[in-house]
Amino acid sequence: MVKIIALLIACAWSLITVPLKFNSHHRDELKQYLKNSHYDNLQIVPHSKLDNNRNLEYSGAFYFGLPPQKIDLVIDTTSWDIWVQSPSCFPCHECDHSFDAGVSETFKNINQTVFIDYVTGNVTGDAGTDVVSIGDDDQLTALSQAFVIAQKDYGFDNMTADGVIGFGMNMSGNFPLLLETLKAQGKISGLIFSLYLNDNEYNNDIHPEPESALIIGGVDMQYAKSETTEVVLLEVENTRGLWETGLTGVKIGSNKVTITSKTVVFDTGSGYISAPKADANSLRMLMYEKYENCNKDNEGTIVCDCEDLTDYPTMDFTLNDGKISKDFILPPSAYFLKDDDKCILLVKTDEVLKDSWRLGGPFLRKYYTAFDMESKNIMFYPAKVSKDTSHDFDSSVKWIIVFFVVLLIVICIVMSVFLYLFCCRHRMNFEETYKPLFTAKYTLPPHYHRTAVRNANSGEVVPDVIPTSRQNRVFPGISSK
Ligand SMILES: *[C@@H]1O[C@H](CO)[C@@H](O)[C@H](O)[C@H]1NC(C)=O
Ligand SMILES: *[C@@H]1O[C@H](CO)[C@@H](O)[C@H](O)[C@H]1NC(C)=O
Ligand SMILES: *[C@@H]1O[C@H](CO)[C@@H](O)[C@H](O)[C@H]1NC(C)=O
Ligand SMILES: *[C@@H]1O[C@H](CO)[C@@H](O)[C@H](O)[C@H]1NC(C)=O
Repeated sequence: MVKIIALLIACAWSLITVPLKFNSHHRDELKQYLKNSHYDNLQIVPHSKLDNNRNLEYSGAFYFGLPPQKIDLVIDTTSWDIWVQSPSCFPCHECDHSFDAGVSETFKNINQTVFIDYVTGNVTGDAGTDVVSIGDDDQLTALSQAFVIAQKDYGFDNMTADGVIGFGMNMSGNFPLLLETLKAQGKISGLIFSLYLNDNEYNNDIHPEPESALIIGGVDMQYAKSETTEVVLLEVENTRGLWETGLTGVKIGSNKVTITSKTVVFDTGSGYISAPKADANSLRMLMYEKYENCNKDNEGTIVCDCEDLTDYPTMDFTLNDGKISKDFILPPSAYFLKDDDKCILLVKTDEVLKDSWRLGGPFLRKYYTAFDMESKNIMFYPAKVSKDTSHDFDSSVKWIIVFFVVLLIVICIVMSVFLYLFCCRHRMNFEETYKPLFTAKYTLPPHYHRTAVRNANSGEVVPDVIPTSRQNRVFPGISSK
């Protein structure tokens, strides 16, 4: 019984926590692989867990100054600067943390005003250097990292994080990248970082597992779909500081999309797949014409009926770095934004990069991606599928209920057994305890039983005389004693 209960507890428990193990054997294998492919000094470094804000923004905690001030920064692979807000920043977007240079013992002013221009906004501030750390447990620390303390920011009203950190390729914004500082200070051996972006289905309230993560200095195979996952390695160009490679084809199912652009840029800061106007339109028209459950709104956005995603085709990208050509296949669940019974196609016209496709979250969530600045490579590992743990919780609640119902039944059975045993015992005891009564019932009538009588005249008490013949008289059902 105890075993069964323990088993049930174990079952319920295993549904709640599914531990993710890092296989050390695989780590060796990976090291070997990377050694053979010129990543000979690979270190597996601490992770920084990232927050996924509605699949639109992935941000992590960074620590600035001494004592450390925690600031959340969006990870952006298409820019190069780091900025945080000054406490007096105005006008600026609303955020939780600003950086107060005045209380940091290690802050140094560079005496330089910096203007950073983004696609969607701009930032003006003063530059300085300070200690910058990253990592949840064992932190990586850059001793003197330059960054911008914003006095003004425009266009970041919808950003929940405090600022931005650029992970673009070395083309240099205003200062060395964090990765470059870490390498220069001997903290990491290669200019490599990798990103695992999980999928929260554009909903704030669910908590997909594993959590999104930034790994600086290496690759962690726990984020790949399986240990035998085949990695695709493509060379990137660095003509404008972007992670960019060649594109030779885009398909919707078996239909070819007419494309004018022959390059793709990988952008963690985008929640979409965007393309030059003609290409985006070509793709959207195909979707609209070939799939009768798809409609077009005034702005050209494609909205499809979402009842059965298997009605829709895959979206295939053929990437080609000049040496290797590889197909990357996105299922409908990746390229649609599900909104009740409507599915919105996450493809839009790029108003900024007018000559290139830009692959953001819909693509990068499918691949655990490592970016290597020195060898100018990107590595794609099909990513571990993230699970919505809030639903898991529902199902574990279900199992807990089942567990308690079973427990209740077990308790009932145990109780009945005990009751039964108790009653039987009780009955036996009953007979034993009350034997005299049973006996008494069959005892001789009172006058035979008397042992003494009072003498009517003298008042003396004298022993009664029981007739001898009756002394050992045996009555039915009573053993003579
Ligand atoms: C800061 O720069 C300005 C303009 O370049 C210069 O006039 C000023 O002396 C500098 N201040 C310090 C403390 O270096
Ligand atoms: C920064 O952005 C704001 C708002 O879009 C704009 O008004 C301002 O002119 C921009 N600043 C510069 C220097 O471009
Ligand atoms: C913020 O989001 C709202 C609603 O989605 C949108 O209308 C607005 O333009 C966005 N603002 C910026 C600065 O992107
Ligand atoms: C990045 O750019 C800086 C400045 O141009 C240069 O000193 C540095 O060597 C570059 N790093 C790499 C990895 O190209």
